[in-house]
Amino acid sequence: MTKSVLVVFLLALISFALLQNWVLATSTTNHVNKGSYGPGSVKSTQCPSHCTRRCSKTQYHKPCMFFCQKCCRKCLCVPPGYYGNKSVCPCYNNWKTKRGGPKCP
Ligand SMILES: *[C@@H]1O[C@H](CO)[C@@H](O)[C@H](O)[C@H]1NC(C)=O
Repeated sequence: MTKSVLVVFLLALISFALLQNWVLATSTTNHVNKGSYGPGSVKSTQCPSHCTRRCSKTQYHKPCMFFCQKCCRKCLCVPPGYYGNKSVCPCYNNWKTKRGGPKCP
């Protein structure tokens, strides 16, 4: 008797945890799909145009474009604006050069 109550309780707990995960995952996906920025917001075919925007104010246009597109194809994300705003794209922000400097413009 006590054992079956315990089993039911555990099952309920597990399904609750699964449900919570599912809801969490769904809301995260919705959030990403809704915003025009953020991880996965850019298709790799859109990288050149996003990087042209991103690099339009720098004097180092060519290297900016080179690294931006490299980062874009890997991260599928280009931060908004001309510089900074990298927290929008964690992958973009966390990709470092061998020396530990920022890899992506
Ligand atoms: C950061 O992004 C916002 C748009 O989301 C933009 O208005 C702002 O200029 C950007 N910052 C920089 C430094 O480009």
